[in-house]
Amino acid sequence: MKAIVLREFGGPEVLQIHEIPVPDCGPDDIVIRVHAAGLNRADLLERQGLYPPPDPQPDFQIPGLECAGVVSRVGRRVLRFREGDRVMALVTGGAYAEYVACPADNAWPIPENITDAEAAGIPEAFITAYDALFDKAQLHLGQRVLIHAGAGGVGSAAIQLARLAGLQVATTVGSPEKVQSVLSFGAEKAINYHDQDFVQEVLNWSSKQGIDAVLDFVGKNYFERNLDVLKVNGVLVIIGTLSGNASHVNLGDILKRRLTICGTALRSRPAYDKMHLIQEFQERTAGFFAKGRLRAIVDKTFPLEQAAQAHRYMATNQNVGKIILTVVGH
Ligand SMILES: NC(=O)c1ccc[n+]([C@@H]2O[C@H](COP(=O)([O-])OP(=O)(O)OC[C@H]3O[C@@H](n4cnc5c(N)ncnc54)[C@H](OP(=O)(O)O)[C@@H]3O)[C@@H](O)[C@H]2O)c1
Repeated sequence: MKAIVLREFGGPEVLQIHEIPVPDCGPDDIVIRVHAAGLNRADLLERQGLYPPPDPQPDFQIPGLECAGVVSRVGRRVLRFREGDRVMALVTGGAYAEYVACPADNAWPIPENITDAEAAGIPEAFITAYDALFDKAQLHLGQRVLIHAGAGGVGSAAIQLARLAGLQVATTVGSPEKVQSVLSFGAEKAINYHDQDFVQEVLNWSSKQGIDAVLDFVGKNYFERNLDVLKVNGVLVIIGTLSGNASHVNLGDILKRRLTICGTALRSRPAYDKMHLIQEFQERTAGFFAKGRLRAIVDKTFPLEQAAQAHRYMATNQNVGKIILTVVGH
């Protein structure tokens, strides 16, 4: 099969197609013929050698954490799927390829109304957002949340999920065009951080009360300011650290306002935790995807052969929603 195999680390030019064997199908696995794979920021880090796959190391390091396609082989202990079923899946790597193997528990059916490109943009972004909003921050009806990078893959998913749950959403973005996009996804307040101070804007929006939670992807540059917008018992969920990892913090502030700071990471989780989260996510959201009330926003698609261009494009921060690689001709 054709796959983007990382034979060296570096710039986008290392993303080259190689011919390698189709992966084996373990007894609890399925093999998926990939039609589309979602791009994630983590793939850019992996390409540079900064985000190795969790143990055990695969024979071939192939990026790609999510995909959509058709089941081509079914492990002998798998009862849920048959060859030919359309599925999307959360994988620990390997989706930039014609075929990928994964535990059957990490895949679920694609509703009829959803294209392969849309389905490939659901697993990583939506499950990360779901976990952050409802497990980590424990948010519920009527509460206020600030979602940074609201036009990104995870941000656009988080805004939709939050609105569906009756939360009030403020979000930050980096351009006037993105302001319009995030309002259309359901944000109540959109802040262009180039022109506006998000702390002042969010405090005004909450009538100086502060808000219940922040979903952050920015890290270093926003850490102290994120704490400034939280009210007593507020929660900061760290999902990404796009501006860097190191930060200063006033511990007294955390103590006085009884704040919670937590992080989340999907790829490195134990299989059982991941399965449980996927099942819960699927049970609670499948109907909304089928009715079109939740959808992966697809910004742009690139053929697998143009993975390097797709990586360069993601690094420019232009995308609104997901960037998808399409796999054709097999
Ligand atoms: N923890 C997990 O399990 C998990 C899972 C998925 C993703 N993530 C992380 O979540 C983050 C977002 O992922 P994504 O897929 O949504 O990425 P994405 O679609 O590429 O969106 C990221 C957006 O963040 C903004 N941004 C980039 N650098 C920034 C900076 N230094 N300061 C402020 N804003 C910046 C840009 O939008 P603007 O133009 O609006 O600024 C950019 O388009 C990444 O760090 C990713 O690694 C974590």
